[in-house]
Amino acid sequence: MTTPILDFVRRYADSGTLRLHMPGHKGVPTLGCEGLDITEVAGADSLYAPTGVIRESEANATAVFASRATLYSTEGSSQCIRAMLALALRERKPKRILAGRNAHRSFLSACALCGAEPDWLWPEAGEGLLSCTVRPETLVRALDEAATGYAAVYVTSPDYLGRLADVSALAAVCHERGLPLLVDNAHGACLRFLPGARHPLEQGADLVCDSAHKTLPVLTGGAYLHIADPCFVPGAKQMLALFGSTSPSYLILASLDACNARLAGDYPMLLADAVRDTADLRRTLQALGWETVDADPLRITLRCDGTKAAARLRTQGMEPEYAGPDALVLMLTPENAAAARARVPEALGPCREAPPAPPPPLPRPERVCTVREALFAPQTSCPAQAAIGRICGAPTVACPPAVPIVTAGERIPEQALPLFQYYGVETVDVLL
Ligand SMILES: Cc1ncc(COP(=O)(O)O)c(C=O)c1O
Repeated sequence: MTTPILDFVRRYADSGTLRLHMPGHKGVPTLGCEGLDITEVAGADSLYAPTGVIRESEANATAVFASRATLYSTEGSSQCIRAMLALALRERKPKRILAGRNAHRSFLSACALCGAEPDWLWPEAGEGLLSCTVRPETLVRALDEAATGYAAVYVTSPDYLGRLADVSALAAVCHERGLPLLVDNAHGACLRFLPGARHPLEQGADLVCDSAHKTLPVLTGGAYLHIADPCFVPGAKQMLALFGSTSPSYLILASLDACNARLAGDYPMLLADAVRDTADLRRTLQALGWETVDADPLRITLRCDGTKAAARLRTQGMEPEYAGPDALVLMLTPENAAAARARVPEALGPCREAPPAPPPPLPRPERVCTVREALFAPQTSCPAQAAIGRICGAPTVACPPAVPIVTAGERIPEQALPLFQYYGVETVDVLL
């Protein structure tokens, strides 16, 4: 597979061209990567109106993902989520989205920017903040009982713990009603290259975002907006441009470009080996008494006091993705799965703790004003205890995982306090 962006930036770096243009480092190394960090010079194409190397590279990405169109983001899934909402809301009324409550905070900012209002699908008992099982029958009921119609349905799969939704069944429900299904697959780009048709594109989702940088060998910020329904192709670049910088990073673009060639080459075989190593590691940890969550094939989620488990890993020079009060999350790829398989069991040793207490139940706060009204209103920060009864001004999150406990525009109920304590949220932004 061709790598037109990478070839261009390498040729440019080697050409000795006197850079009478941005960026200010002029290719002179401080970090070492400046030579390849160019701007949209002649021949480098333009991200939001591509006709040359970027167009060719995005066509390669479209081919490797077998989508209708795959477009690049250099500003993460956050940019793609905003573009997905803008596309789904275009020409649709009312501007309401039915969404799983475990949505990342970027969904809330997308709602505010696009003038959309979310209605929530709530997690099942005991799921806590990070997961939100949406069964097809729950979705049918929510759609049938809604007082107003929706522009789209939005779910997060995999969630932060790696749990996968039944996207095929949800897509069928949406499509029977003429609604698009939008999937935040920020954590699942790699699924497209694993057996089992687990990527949302393979399961009927209409618009999907993947943070390439989270699970594929791509620099931080590199992401894909995948389009399955052709009606979303016209205007998609425009919507991405609306939420993106006019100076996209060519380091990130070159990294996305190079990834296409790896995905079309031997990387899927390496991923298959990594899946085997991860499965072995999971079995070893289970044999040591650790309770695992049924997660995607390249993630290990342990139900435990994540803080204590992370401390054990750190003493042996390992850093987890997430260490929370009731979970430890490890993300593996071909680059580290064999090492993790060898080193993690020794560092964690046998599990000697009782299972962690389940998280306090998620409150269902009353909505007082729209997300947009709240996010753009004057606000102040106050201690969590003093915020009870006030209107939330910004999504109240611990980061990671950046899933809000109370969202902007909701009145903060007393039942939120145990969750603030549980997730270490000490201050909350409230409306003045
Ligand atoms: C579930 C989920 N969605 C979206 C995002 C935003 O992705 P990005 O950091 O690529 O903008 C994240 C980031 O961690 C996430 O966890």
